Amino acid sequence: MSKDSFTVFRGDTSRLRNIVPIAERMTPQFYEDEKTAIFRRAWLVAASALDLRKKGDFLVTDIPPLKMSLLVVRGNDDRIRVFHNVCRHRGDRLVHDASGCRRAFSCGFHAWTYANTGELTGVTDATQFPGLQKEHFGLLPVHSEVWENIVFVNLADQPRESLRDWLGPIYDQYRGFSAGRTKIADHRVVLNTNWNLAVNAFCEGYHNLYIHRNTVPDYQGGSANPHRHRAYIEVGEHFARYSAHGNPNHKATPAEQVLYGNSRPMFPSFIDIDIDKLPPGVNPSRFDQWAFDIVHLVPNVVLGPQANTHSLMWFWPIDHAHTDVRVQRFAFQTDRPGDRIAQAYSIVRGREVLREDLATMETSYTGISSGVLPHIVLSQQEMLIQNHYRAADDLLAEHGNRHVRTPAA
Ligand code: FES
Ligand SMILES: [Fe+2]
Repeated sequence: MSKDSFTVFRGDTSRLRNIVPIAERMTPQFYEDEKTAIFRRAWLVAASALDLRKKGDFLVTDIPPLKMSLLVVRGNDDRIRVFHNVCRHRGDRLVHDASGCRRAFSCGFHAWTYANTGELTGVTDATQFPGLQKEHFGLLPVHSEVWENIVFVNLADQPRESLRDWLGPIYDQYRGFSAGRTKIADHRVVLNTNWNLAVNAFCEGYHNLYIHRNTVPDYQGGSANPHRHRAYIEVGEHFARYSAHGNPNHKATPAEQVLYGNSRPMFPSFIDIDIDKLPPGVNPSRFDQWAFDIVHLVPNVVLGPQANTHSLMWFWPIDHAHTDVRVQRFAFQTDRPGDRIAQAYSIVRGREVLREDLATMETSYTGISSGVLPHIVLSQQEMLIQNHYRAADDLLAEHGNRHVRTPAA
């Protein structure tokens, strides 16, 4: 690594490339390979378990690249399961609501009924199905595991490894990081972009000095770190993460002074906290002017832990040229009006910044999909993006697909 960097690097960087041919990845043909080799293979984040607190709580979520609808539900036995949202009779969509709380689900077409643990409990006009054994017609289960209040699914017939083995060293490092938190914001937008470019826009902080100069001009870095290098960057097989440097000289706006004077500070203010009390995966280098982390969970999710809040961002491909972006924000549960107002302020500020990020995803796609660019060029500060393409290429190669590999420039 260059000595000019403020950053502490960790992980195997030997197979990363700073030049990535990109036009080929934007094509429908390449996307067909990605659907099978990546989205039918990887452990994918389906939902936040913080949305499923009580027995019977459920939500419906889509897996756009596989054209699937999933039902995620906390059963009456208190266990979270994931099912295909498909009725076993003739395949109609079982649940149409986005979320709710139910003991049972009844299909709208012919009213077959299923318990919230998946068993088929009711068949209307049952005498006309001679010999039907109800126990064989429960909802179709999806391989799923819950990790730190995040529900993962695997849509392979048989996952190649457990979620623990997929996540590797980070599996045990985040214990309890989301305890006591609740969802405070949920944004969704479909963009004219390729999913790889959308993930990439959230995997580096190089841009924040420029595209966020009007919304959050001084919240990162500081006089010792004028280029706002990441404090820490780590790459792993199915994850990569960085820690951002909170600016100790950040000038709180009048609104921040009032709101965060009555509440625990949140974005874009960062505070002195007892960093030793954080789980080992959060601020892993124990950087003392820590602002937040970005954790890329291969392939398409970015987790953003902070002291009093965190975010979960999905970048789901709909096709090679459209991406469904979902962003959820979480913060400490509270009934105090001062906290609620401060959280609302943080959501609004965060949304302004998010809009700036989203805009680049569409304009980059326009440029790259024109085919004029031979490759993209990535700095050390964009190492998470380098790792994204390394991981994607490994999965494509594992499946015997074409994959892109060029020597480092
Ligand atoms: S398709 Fe659901 S009951 Fe007929
Ligand atoms: Fe950004």
